[in-house]
Amino acid sequence: MDKLIIKGRNKLYGTVEISGAKNAALPAMAAAILTSGDVHLNGVPYLADVTTMVKLLEKMGVKTAGYTDGTGVGVPGKSVTINTSGINTHEAPYDLVKTMRASVLVLGPLVARYGSARVSLPGGCAIGSRPIDLHIKGLAALGANVSIEHGYVNVKAKKLKGAKIVFDTTTVTGTENIMMAATLARGTTVIENAAKEPEITSLAEQLISMGADIHGAGTDIIEIQGVDRLHGCSMDIIPDRIEAGTYIIAAAAAGGEVEVSNCNPGHLDALLSKMKEAGIHVTGTGNSIVVKREKDAWLKSVNIKTSPYPNFPTDLQAQFMTLMTQGDDTGVITETIFENRFMHVAELRRMGADIKVENNVAIVRGRTRLMGAQIMATDLRASASLVIAGLMADKVTEVSRIYHLDRGYEVMEKKLSKIGAKIERVKV
Ligand code: EPU
Repeated sequence: MDKLIIKGRNKLYGTVEISGAKNAALPAMAAAILTSGDVHLNGVPYLADVTTMVKLLEKMGVKTAGYTDGTGVGVPGKSVTINTSGINTHEAPYDLVKTMRASVLVLGPLVARYGSARVSLPGGCAIGSRPIDLHIKGLAALGANVSIEHGYVNVKAKKLKGAKIVFDTTTVTGTENIMMAATLARGTTVIENAAKEPEITSLAEQLISMGADIHGAGTDIIEIQGVDRLHGCSMDIIPDRIEAGTYIIAAAAAGGEVEVSNCNPGHLDALLSKMKEAGIHVTGTGNSIVVKREKDAWLKSVNIKTSPYPNFPTDLQAQFMTLMTQGDDTGVITETIFENRFMHVAELRRMGADIKVENNVAIVRGRTRLMGAQIMATDLRASASLVIAGLMADKVTEVSRIYHLDRGYEVMEKKLSKIGAKIERVKV
């Protein structure tokens, strides 16, 4: 098991190039199931979660090319070609779904194209119970027969039929699953209270380029007119806004001047406005964002509340909490998406942070000089917050269980070393 050793209190200078978005690449790969043509994806990040999706597709008989090893790791523009014409099973087994919940994204495409899917129920995870009831209800509304047996959801449908689906809660992968399923349904599907994340818009663009008829992606009502078949496509994966946000916060936390390149500043409005409120200089132009913090003065403490896009993303909550230990007063952080997403608090406290948690609210007292310690990553974004803490802390921080980090950050230690961080990966 690898760990990261970080020698803190070095300012960061230079450019970090952002990789393709994990949460755009995963549905883009699942969407390939909807066609027998080649789906060619450019800028796919090399990440453990993407590797899991490749394994899942290959286990079903899908052919993938260009993603066989780590060649090109850290090199933006890695291409993957997927051809699903040889699919011979419609099952996503427990051993893969348990390592990556996003495996559930094959459900909608499998039912739409083959009329059947058997997908392991993901169960709870480190950040919450995360049910998939809304995915299942949506497919049932499209006319599918759904049963749950032995921990698996079995979905069958001769031909899906368009319907109006109103999500009780905004769900990102739920919206993606239903949008993909509806592309091959008979008639019109309307999704209300749809998720509006850029990854939804990107998936809709891909499906449209495959021949789907979709309007309204990026708003809370998406209309899909079913078509008989889809064809292959070539698609660029959008930059990872959460990776970009993580480096923006890291640069602000450590101090210095960093350009975060190959990103879309428009996808990060909520974060950038909070950074400005905290007193950080951030300027977004074209496809890059420059972050500057020259002085070591305390930042202004600010409050954040996570909620669906375009509001403050839950996937940046942990990282922002670490930054708020450098506030001049008290910052209140309210998590509204996942019920258990404060696992990093206990580790940050071991580094000297003063954070109190009451239900879904964390109260962060600032003016803390963090101290290096041995700490443990608990989930993907929590891991990133601990690395950021290590960059700010006195002396040495050792972050273990970084396999969580490898699920969603492409060569993070290399990207950070390039801008002056003293960080190395060691095998234990
Ligand atoms: N929910 C339900 N029932 C459902 C689906 C969702 O109750 O059927 C609830 C969830 O429990 C949660 C809320 O709805 O309280 C929102 O969850 P959502 O379905 O939007 O989350 P997701 O689709 O499972 C995606 C990202 C997550 C990100 C969330 C929220 C992917 C592959 N994953 O998850 O990314 O946190 O949206 O933005 O797109 C990460 O990258 O670290 C990560 C966890």
